[in-house]
Amino acid sequence: MRITSIQLTDFRNYERAELRPCEGITVLYGNNAQGKTALLESVVLSCTGRSHRTPRDRELIRWGQDAGRVFVRVERRDGSHEVEMLLSQQRRKTVKVNGRALQRTGELMGHVNSVLFAPEDLRTVKDGPAERRRFIDMELSQIRPAYYYALQRYAHALMQRNRLLRDIPLNPALRDTLEDWDAQLARHGADIMTMRAAFVREVSEAAHENHLEISGGREDLTVRYAPSLDAGGEDPARALLAALAVAREVDIRRGATAVGPHRDDLVLALSGMDARVYGSQGQQRTAALSLKLAELDIMRRALGEAPALMLDDVMSELDPKRRRHLLRRLEGVQTIVTCTDLSDLAEAEIGAAWRIQDGSIRPEGGDEA
Ligand SMILES: Nc1ncnc2c1ncn2[C@@H]1O[C@H](COP(=O)(O)OP(=O)(O)OP(=O)(O)O)[C@@H](O)[C@H]1O
Ligand SMILES: [Mg+2]
Repeated sequence: MRITSIQLTDFRNYERAELRPCEGITVLYGNNAQGKTALLESVVLSCTGRSHRTPRDRELIRWGQDAGRVFVRVERRDGSHEVEMLLSQQRRKTVKVNGRALQRTGELMGHVNSVLFAPEDLRTVKDGPAERRRFIDMELSQIRPAYYYALQRYAHALMQRNRLLRDIPLNPALRDTLEDWDAQLARHGADIMTMRAAFVREVSEAAHENHLEISGGREDLTVRYAPSLDAGGEDPARALLAALAVAREVDIRRGATAVGPHRDDLVLALSGMDARVYGSQGQQRTAALSLKLAELDIMRRALGEAPALMLDDVMSELDPKRRRHLLRRLEGVQTIVTCTDLSDLAEAEIGAAWRIQDGSIRPEGGDEA
């Protein structure tokens, strides 16, 4: 897959701009706070319908403006696809694919695909479980629309149930309606758990390979799914429903749902030892890089072509060995890299470089694009 055009109007700090990334490595360089991440963010938005930085679309519209627009064109094996997002201060955004407005955001999946690697990702291992769930959600949503829908329905049911839990002490008659939400949580939650388990097995295999290579065959990385509830051999929906029933009184007291995929985690282990607890900082970073590259491998396999890869300021965070490994993996993958210093990319074969300055995209060394 290849992105041929990214057009922004009143998006973040861009008034109007277009980037036409090249086939190989496109570099966006510039000082801090000029709009490098914003450009990548617009691509993430076109892939998943959601920014990786905020759940609120309004923050994406240029300050003082009423509406914003993102347009992305890609060439895939089956031809060209165009995704357009119309952001509005007043209404929910309109999403169009090839000129046709979509009814559901889920239909967006599979037109533009990308993997984003940002400095935050280097902390996937060290940070809390939410980061690791986000890793699964971002990727799996792009390759399996059913997962995206299950996530949405689950999140909705969870919000309703939690609201109810907090209302019950004030209005005990509401207790009877809990069962409906429990049933919905169990059904969608079980779908999520099943898809996560299968996906994590794939991730573990691919991450293991990558890690072995980066560590020069010395380290053995495994990734294990750690669901908040172990169904044993049982039907996960039934197990989840039973667990929700058991936790009910505690949940009412706490006003929150204690069990379910919103509490899942991943365990990364190096030679069997939890990398989060025992890994050195370097090992944790390598594991995070292996995980990201696994994401790229899995997506490429699932799509039958490589997604675009976006590296947001990670080069400066990697040591030369990891950097070289990453660069080796870029062959045949359209890549957009951001950096503040071009020397971070000294070893890379750059196709095109653009300077990002105050919301404008200028040719290298030039003044105006
Ligand atoms: N809705 C908005 N309207 C206008 N400007 C915005 C909006 N949201 C963010 N900005 C500004 O856009 C600028 C670009 O932010 P961005 O994160 O893309 O910078 P960056 O080039 O990636 O910087 P860094 O190197 O620090 O990561 C920032 O100055 C930010 O304050
Ligand atoms: Mg940035």
